[in-house]
Amino acid sequence: NQESWLPTLKTDTPEEGYNLAVKLARKAVGMTQPDAEVREALRPVYANNADSLTFASQVVAINFQTVAAANNYWNN
Ligand code: HEM
Repeated sequence: NQESWLPTLKTDTPEEGYNLAVKLARKAVGMTQPDAEVREALRPVYANNADSLTFASQVVAINFQTVAAANNYWNN
């Protein structure tokens, strides 16, 4: 489906897979808070909070587990 924002979980490399994990995390934020002005207002809040950044990293890490599994850990 070329219209899909997420046509596949398959990536050529682990690094591309990690980028997809970040994209998944950001997509969830965009769906949860559709108002770009609100997101822009909150950006400096989380960007300057160590715990917020750690949580953001954790969300990406969880997504990366899923992406890596979907790609057989790139051991094909
Ligand atoms: C920017 C990741 C949560 C609002 C970014 C960037 C990354 C990122 C990597 C930099 C993009 C770039 O410079 O090209 C994440 C992750 C999150 C998260 C992984 C959570 C798991 C949030 C939340 C908000 C938010 C909760 C606000 C509600 C923004 C905004 C920018 C931004 C407005 C653009 C900043 C700019 O262009 O100067 N985010 N983010 N993000 N994020 Fe997040």
